[in-house]
Amino acid sequence: MSFVFTVCQAGAEAALKNEISRRHPELRFAFSRPGFVTFKTPDTRGFIENFQLKSVFARMWGHSIGKVVGADSATMVRQYVDLLAAKLSAEQLAGCRHVHVWERDRYVPGSRGFEPGVSVLATEIGRILEPENDAGNAARGVNTIPEPEEHVIDCVLVEPGEWWIGWHVADQGPSCWPGGTPQIELPTEAVSRTWLKMVEGLMWSGFPVKAGDTVVEIGSSPGGSCQALLGLGLKVTGIDPAEMDEALTKEPNFTHIRGRAKEQPRRIFSNVRWLASDASAVPNYALDTIEAIVTHSSVNIEGLLLTLKFTDWKLADEIPLYHKRIRSWGFQKVRSRQLAFNRREICVAATKD
Ligand SMILES: C[S@@+](CC[C@H](N)C(=O)[O-])C[C@H]1O[C@@H](n2cnc3c(N)ncnc32)[C@H](O)[C@@H]1O
Repeated sequence: MSFVFTVCQAGAEAALKNEISRRHPELRFAFSRPGFVTFKTPDTRGFIENFQLKSVFARMWGHSIGKVVGADSATMVRQYVDLLAAKLSAEQLAGCRHVHVWERDRYVPGSRGFEPGVSVLATEIGRILEPENDAGNAARGVNTIPEPEEHVIDCVLVEPGEWWIGWHVADQGPSCWPGGTPQIELPTEAVSRTWLKMVEGLMWSGFPVKAGDTVVEIGSSPGGSCQALLGLGLKVTGIDPAEMDEALTKEPNFTHIRGRAKEQPRRIFSNVRWLASDASAVPNYALDTIEAIVTHSSVNIEGLLLTLKFTDWKLADEIPLYHKRIRSWGFQKVRSRQLAFNRREICVAATKD
């Protein structure tokens, strides 16, 4: 029997299970805790080698090899070593130069002071799992970033005395980040935590934004995401009926258009390369606004980075329709992901090529 483990936002488990039952009917739900869900895979030859999980809500996934349970870390570390030796080939073990250790999410990001990422506890347990030898080297780097195609051992701290162990093959972006969360920290000068969302969205999408590019953000107040864009040297316009923080209004490369996006003349979008949206609106309303902009003959926007807000988790079932709609505007490549720093929302990245 083999299993796939996934981690997601706390509260997104039902949306994740629905999505997996639709996109991967070959997987059977097995076990769930907030922020951590496992599935049984078919016992078909070659399944593990060829499997790729397609999911918006799985922040990270891998092949589960079991769990270690105990009252003290010394016992659990011994079980970890035994489990790896029992379930992985010597060749595979020798090839694993990284172990990723993290705690499952317990709260929605941005609530109760919680942000996803590698906690102090996870770092500490990582050091115990991979102790340094006399020369100061550990067998594997803890929460280090692998190269594409390298194998990584995963240790998810599901409960204090329960760690789930697995492995995955790194590709690019999220599969290289411990727990699928980029290791970024909110700068003290950031005016809102949406700075994290924008930085992660750009890292995940791989959009080739460069200094001097023009970008418009719809729903820009108070200004965390615009700050992230300004930090990259972009020329930024924020559209929002609400006020921007003065940290933004004093920036020479920032323009605030005070009002709703639908009320703005199309000419303000005519030399714009990127369009971001974080407006507090239901997805279809946000998409109506964006459609009216990007389908106008004077506008030639190259890439969209959209936050679609789910006032109701049922909206998650509509994601394929949102993709179809965005493709119909000429954006051929459309992808969605619930970012680690998203709240009850997803990020959509769309480009024309
Ligand atoms: C989550 S906040 C945006 C946070 C912002 N991106 C930041 O980085 O600080 C949502 C914003 O959307 C704005 N908004 C809602 N509907 C809008 C519309 N039709 N056009 C422009 N802004 C809108 C609201 O005024 C609100 O400030």
